[in-house]
Formats: sequence, C-alpha cells, structure tokens
Amino acid sequence: MTRGSVSQNDCRQLERSPLIGAGTASIEDLIAQFGHLSEPDSGPGVTRLAHTPLERRAHELFADRMRALGLTVWADAAGNTIAEVAGTELGLPAIGTGSHLDSVPHGGRYDGIAGVVAAMEIARLKTEKKIEHRHPLRFIAFANEEGARFGQACIGSRIVAGLTTRTDLDRLTDANGVTVAEAMSTVGIHPALVSEAQWVPDHWAGFLELHIEQGSVLTSLDIPIGVVDLISGSTRLQLTLHGRAAHTGGTPMHLRADALAAAAAAEIVLQAEALATDTRHRGTRITVGKLDVEPGSITTIPGKCTLAVDIRDVDSDRQRESAAELIAAAQAIGSDRGVTVDVELLADASPAILSAWVRDEIIGAASGLGLSYRVMPSGASHDSQMISHICPVGMVFVPSQNYGVSHAPDEYTTAPDLAAGIEVLASALRALDQTLNPSNGPKRVEGDNDD
Ligand code: GLV
Ligand code: MN
Ligand code: MN
Repeated sequence: MTRGSVSQNDCRQLERSPLIGAGTASIEDLIAQFGHLSEPDSGPGVTRLAHTPLERRAHELFADRMRALGLTVWADAAGNTIAEVAGTELGLPAIGTGSHLDSVPHGGRYDGIAGVVAAMEIARLKTEKKIEHRHPLRFIAFANEEGARFGQACIGSRIVAGLTTRTDLDRLTDANGVTVAEAMSTVGIHPALVSEAQWVPDHWAGFLELHIEQGSVLTSLDIPIGVVDLISGSTRLQLTLHGRAAHTGGTPMHLRADALAAAAAAEIVLQAEALATDTRHRGTRITVGKLDVEPGSITTIPGKCTLAVDIRDVDSDRQRESAAELIAAAQAIGSDRGVTVDVELLADASPAILSAWVRDEIIGAASGLGLSYRVMPSGASHDSQMISHICPVGMVFVPSQNYGVSHAPDEYTTAPDLAAGIEVLASALRALDQTLNPSNGPKRVEGDNDD
C-alpha cells in the first residue's frame, strides 16, 4: 500500500486535463535501466559515485537516448550532459530541466534519476508529438551532485554557476585522497577546462527540476505534488580529535586521553543532537554521519577520532551560527578531556530562496491538472540551488514512499506519482515558454512578489 499517491480522484481529473501523456511503462523502464548501473558486488542499493566509469555510463545512456530522438547533445567541461531542442523563435534564451545521475553508496534508484527521467520523458513526448516551443529547451544530466564522495555537494552545477572553480578541484578529496581533478581526469574530463562550462545568465530564461521529496510530508498528507519555496543550505565540517593512543589494559581510566567513546567524540555527537533539537534551533538539522577511529584496535585506546558533521538549515545565519556553536562546544569538551580538536571546513552552501513567480507557474500547472499541492522547503541540497544563481528556478517534488526514506536502497516513488509530477513539470515548462518574453520581460500579475 502506498501513501500520498495520485488518488482515484486525481486520476479522473488527470484524464480530463491537457496532458503531455507521460507513460508509467517508459518511466519504469528508464528507472530500471539506470538502476542496473551499480558497482558490481557492492551490496544492496545503487552505488554509482561521482566521476566513476559507471556515472559516465549513465550519462552515455542519457546522451544516446536523447540523440536517438534527434536532439543536439554535448558534454560540458564539468562532465554535465546537455541535450537541446531548438525553439521556434530565434535568439531567445533557453529553458532547462533536469537533475543528476550519480548516487551515494548504497543509495536508491530515484534520487536525481527521477528528474533526469522526467526530462527524458518530456523530450520523448515533445519530439514524438511534434510539440513546438518558442525557447530552446535544454535537458540536463548534472555530474557529481552527491557530496558523498568529495564532501561538497552539487559540484557539476556549482561549476556552471561559477561557484566551484579549478582550484577547488585540487583541494577537495575523497576518502582515498583522490582529488576531484584527478577523479575527473580518470574518466576523460579535463579539469583545466572547467571554466568553459560556466553558464552565461543571459542565455538562460529559467530552470525547473523534478525531484523525489526524500521525506514523508507528502505521503503523510496524501498530497501528490510538492512545490519548493526554499532549499536548505549545508555547512560541512571535519573535526579531528587528537587524544593519546595507549594500552587498554595498562592505562588506568583516570590517565587516559581517549578520543572516542567515554570521552570527547561521543560527547560532541550528543552535543550536536542537543543543539539541533533545542527551541532556538528548531528546524536546524545536524548529523554526524561518519566517525573514523584510529588506530582501530580492540586493545588500544583510541588516539585519534575524525567526525564528519553536516549542518543544514533554511536560515542562512542560523546555519553558520550553529556551526560556530558546535565548534566552540567541541573545543570546550576537548579541553576538559585533554584532547585537542582541529576543525576543517569541508563545504559550505547557502540556502536558496526560489523565485516566487516560477513557484506560481508550478502551482498553476498543478491546479490546472486538478492535482493538490503543498508549498514546502527542501531539506536536501539540489542542483537547482546552484542554478538559482544563474536564472529563475523552480522545483517540483513527488512523494517518497517507505516513510520518505532516501539515500538508501528502499527509496521508492510510484510510477503514477512520477507521471503526475512529469505532467506538472511539462505544463509548467509550457507556461514558462509561453509567458517569458525577454524583449518585454516576463508577463507579471499585479502584486506579484518578486525575489
Ligand atoms: C544531496 O543529495 C544532499 O545530500 O542533500
Ligand atoms: Mn538528489
Ligand atoms: Mn542525494
């Protein structure tokens, strides 16, 4: 039994509405094809990390399908793949839609993929039905969105937005010390050229992304469409605790500088949780997702402990204040325990406020199709967050089943829910195409709240 899915009422309404005709069979087929591209013998779920041969294969699958439809396809210098259909009016800026094709380790089949499949389905239907549009339409598969490998999320879209540059690619490393630049080179992408991938704002009229919710708000309310107003920012820290490795039998309890359990790291983890749940920080999310203990022997007191901390918030000031408070608390705990604490900022992305008028176009599209919707923030990071630095952006969420689980093998969105989201996306793209007119500016309704 799935919750929050398109209801029978919604289905009846969808049958009466002007539809592009998104098909559940083609959606399921594409989700399955991408889902098969996972590291062999990597265990449950999909493992297709950024800048690996498997991520490139996913991009090739996208490129081959789009080329077969007759679209012009190219890969940019960041490893993103872009497919374009020309518009009927010369010289208009492009409207884009898409998402990412990489996964976290043991992730699901829908995070990112849903938005790329939505783009592919819209490209297929527009081509087959010869549906014209005034602006060029660009369908985009971003590379390296998950921060799982290099700490920093959305690197492909940050590069096109000019937020990540050549020097960052030498600074950011994965768990094996491989830099982003080195990883790019191993799959044939030339890091020295990344600046060429930067988008020119005048060339872009707008961008829409469909994504799974990755939470359970929509299913709990039985609502099929989320319209995103804010995207959370994320500050990522690495705290390294230096204690004193010593014999677990020979060292009395009061003479230890244990970097882990009975000492500093455990207290910092609990402090992070306490900080994020007090009333002042309601809405802040702090997670210690990785804890490495050295030397990692049952008979040696931990001498070094490394914690990876992710601080997310829709309030930019509070996000950075929470990071500062946690660092201060960690240093106080360390000094009480005879453990030194080094702090490294791994990544920092601000929250994004999405365009109010693009949100209204998505709401109009959902309402026009008779689908209920909820305006909601995104807890996760998205490529749209970075693209909002280039052009007006909107996001459509579709329900995540299994209590909203994501970044895990059980991640699941039903094909009818995806089809409904694709209809909303197609209808909103059509509305942008018809409404936006660069010579006069977008047509606006009196009282619109610009941002
Ligand atoms: C991206 O998937 C994120 O971690 O928010
Ligand atoms: Mn994603
Ligand atoms: Mn993700």
